[in-house]
Amino acid sequence: MGAAIRHSLLAPGKRLRPILVLMSAEASSYNRELAMPAACAVEMVHAYSLIHDDLPAMDDDDLRRGRPSCHAAFDEATAILAGDALLAQAFETLADGIRPSDRAARCCAVLAKAAGPAALVGGQADDLSSQGEGGIAHLEHIHRRKTGALFRASLQLGAIAAGADADKLQALDTYGEKMGLAFQIVDDLLDLESDEETLGKRTQKDSQQGKLTFPGLLGVDESRRRAEQLIADACRSLTLFGPQASRLEGLAHYVLERKH
Ligand code: IPE
Ligand code: IPE
Ligand code: MG
Ligand code: MG
Ligand code: MG
Repeated sequence: MGAAIRHSLLAPGKRLRPILVLMSAEASSYNRELAMPAACAVEMVHAYSLIHDDLPAMDDDDLRRGRPSCHAAFDEATAILAGDALLAQAFETLADGIRPSDRAARCCAVLAKAAGPAALVGGQADDLSSQGEGGIAHLEHIHRRKTGALFRASLQLGAIAAGADADKLQALDTYGEKMGLAFQIVDDLLDLESDEETLGKRTQKDSQQGKLTFPGLLGVDESRRRAEQLIADACRSLTLFGPQASRLEGLAHYVLERKH
């Protein structure tokens, strides 16, 4: 079990969500260390979601982060259990690591909501059942839950762990909401336009599997335009931080430019 967990969790991903947790804490209080357990917990939930997303019953992908996906390297039962283990360990990490304990409780609630049926799991369920049917509002609702919610939670967790005030928490939440949706629009574009070598995962999968996507509904140019608009909105939400949020601004632009 440990080998399967390490195979997926320690694979060379971008670590964007934990970086966002730490940047959010830094923008809130100059103290990143307070949020380190939350950064680890978010990456654990993300790694679990990728293991399950790749299963034959879901997207059926055998390549992830440039390596065989968990069920391809081990077997399906081991991959399901490795995902289950990571989800549980995420909450253990938050509960044991965040201090004081009322902040830990708030962090657990935020992450549980983002991982649960009203967010990540619900979005994944609708992604699988939509069969390419539905308009832009439905697609946006899927993307905001299956991917956006964990980005949003990352910003909230960093802010809560670092003791941000309500105005800063709200501003960071808005940033997370906008950039989370932009991130999944770009993921849809990369599936269409990139290659497996660069991306470290299979490409052209969304159209093969009849997924509802931004480029599928709006075309490449309009999808990119929407992502750019969302990133501009995300950056605008950071005004109250001044130079303390310059790294968050830089990371938002990276989301548009990323090649994998
Ligand atoms: C991929 O996320 C899954 C989505 C939510 C689109 P990332 O592109 O952040 O994956 P890693 O962590 O870098 O592998
Ligand atoms: C994945 O969306 C979202 C989650 C893992 C929660 P995708 O299915 O588009 O992600 P990739 O393209 O396989 O990384
Ligand atoms: Mg999927
Ligand atoms: Mg997938
Ligand atoms: Mg994708």
